[in-house]
Amino acid sequence: MNNGFKLSSLIYPVFVTPGKGRREAVSSMPGIYKTSPDVLVKEAGRLRKLGIEKVLLFGSSDDKDECGSSAYKYGNIVAQSVRSLKKRFPKLTVMTDVCLCAYTSHSHCGIIKPGFPVSISKEPTLSALAKMAVSHAEAGADYVAPSAMADKQVRVIRRILDKEGYRDTKIMGYSAKFASQFYGPFRNIADSAPKSGDRRQYQLDFTDKKRALLEVKKDIDEGADIVMVKPALSYLDIIRDVKNKFDCKLAAYNVSGEYSMVKAGSRAGYWDERKMVFEIITAIRRAGADIIITYHAPDIAKWVRGKMWGL
Ligand code: PBG
Repeated sequence: MNNGFKLSSLIYPVFVTPGKGRREAVSSMPGIYKTSPDVLVKEAGRLRKLGIEKVLLFGSSDDKDECGSSAYKYGNIVAQSVRSLKKRFPKLTVMTDVCLCAYTSHSHCGIIKPGFPVSISKEPTLSALAKMAVSHAEAGADYVAPSAMADKQVRVIRRILDKEGYRDTKIMGYSAKFASQFYGPFRNIADSAPKSGDRRQYQLDFTDKKRALLEVKKDIDEGADIVMVKPALSYLDIIRDVKNKFDCKLAAYNVSGEYSMVKAGSRAGYWDERKMVFEIITAIRRAGADIIITYHAPDIAKWVRGKMWGL
C-alpha cells in the first residue's frame, strides 16, 4: 500500500547533553536517548546506515542562568555537535532548534522581565536567539529552526545570517506552534518545564485557527524556507489549511506526547505499533505535510528496509 511516503521526508530529533561517553535513556520517551556530542556522532553513523538523511538537534545545559547564555556562548554544545556531525557526515542535513528554554534557569523560551505575570523581554530575547543561530550556522548547520515563538524571530535571524555571511543557511520556522499538553514528555528530557507560569503568552491558543494562519504568513514574509505546524495529530485541519493557502514547504511535528502515547499503547498490547505508526504518518501526509519531524523515524527506516512498511 502506497502512502506517497519517502524516507527523505522525515526529520529525526536528537538530544545532546554535556559531557563525554554519555548515553542516557529518557523515561518519558521509550527508545529515546540523550547523548553527549561524541556518542551522537556514533549514533549518527547508525542513523545514516538506516537511511535517515535529516536530524534536528536539541541541546541542554548544566549551567543554566537567567539569560540562557550557555545557548549562545562560543563553543556551545549544539555548535560543537554540529561541527562534529558535519565533519564526519557532510551529507547529513543538520538542523538545529533555536530556543532558550533548555538553557534558562526559569525554563522560559526567552529572557523574561522581572515580576509577575511572566512576560518576555523582546529585544534581549531576539538578540540572544540571533547569536544562537549564528553560532549554529558558523558550525555548519544547514537549517536553524527558531522555536521560541518570539515575534519577528525569523526576520531577525534571516538578517543576521545574511549579514554574517551565512546566506546558504536556511530557516525552518516553528510557525504555528500551539501551547500544548503534547510537549510534556519532551520537557522532561530537556528539563524545560517552566518554573512559573506557562507558555500561553507566546505559544498559540489551540482554539484560534485564524491566528495560526496569520503566524504562518508572517514567517513566510519574514523569510522562512520551511514553515511548521506543531503538534501534528490534533492539528491535521491546520496542516490542510496551511497547505491549501500557502505555496511553501510545510513540516509537521509529530511531537513527544504523540510518540509516547503510541509507545505506551504498544507496550500495553493495545495495538500493533508498526501499523499504528503507518496509519499516523499516512494521516499527517494526507493532511498535506511535505516533511514530518518524528521520533519514530529510525523504526520507520527499519520497517521500510525490511519491506515491512505498510500493510
Ligand atoms: C522548545 C521546544 C519544545 C518542543 C520543541 N521545541 C517544547 C516546548 O515548546 O515546550 C516540543 C517538542 C516535542 O514535544 O516533541 N521551545
